Amino acid sequence: MPRSTWTPCRDAIRIAPSLLAADFGALTEAVHSLEGTGIERLHVDVMDGVFVPNFTFGTDTVRVLKRETSLPLELHLMIVEPDKHLELFRDAGADAITVHYEACPHLHRTLVTIRELDCRAGAAIVPSTPALVLDDVLEVMDLALVMTIDPGWGGQKLIPRTLRKVAQVREEITRQGLETEVEVDGGVDATNARACVEAGADVLVAGTAILRHEHGPGAGVAAIEAAIAG
Ligand code: DX5
Ligand code: ZN
Repeated sequence: MPRSTWTPCRDAIRIAPSLLAADFGALTEAVHSLEGTGIERLHVDVMDGVFVPNFTFGTDTVRVLKRETSLPLELHLMIVEPDKHLELFRDAGADAITVHYEACPHLHRTLVTIRELDCRAGAAIVPSTPALVLDDVLEVMDLALVMTIDPGWGGQKLIPRTLRKVAQVREEITRQGLETEVEVDGGVDATNARACVEAGADVLVAGTAILRHEHGPGAGVAAIEAAIAG
């Protein structure tokens, strides 16, 4: 869904399953198992083995995902020099592209470029990066992603201190009167989802808690929704 047709829904918490937790040998089945569970976007982690030690999806996989589902694809680029690859990922089917502050010497220009490609633009910060680094670019971002684990792998435990940064980003977005979404990513599950929302997150990325739930992805989504509802 191009940025030009996206309408941010402010009143509902969004859940974005991370495909990193899927069985890579049955990725399209995993995607189809998520449709109809109430989620409205897919979180696609791209890793280059340099920015983070792990490797995952490339543009060909994004193209397959685009063919298999109408769910918007939100790419999380954990790569160095993302500017070199923005158009490739847009052409492969990205609806949103999130880059890392730590990988972008000219983050403002990168975000503006992503929007010019008609994708929603996001910036992510790792646990050791202070929230204030985003203050001066929130106005050119559709999504602020606060990593709640050290990026590279799923299945880790959420780092509680990162929720302070969620609150700081949310406060700054409100202060600036913006519509930017706040997203948390890493170790999110039914035990901490409510705390994430109370801190100020409106998009929850969850991989393990959904795609590796003992009763299937639908139960995983429902457990997080129930936790948020309280
Ligand atoms: C990690 C990724 C996350 C991860 C989340 O670098 O950015 O999206 O897949 O997976 P869980 O929810 O299992 O921690
Ligand atoms: Zn991610």
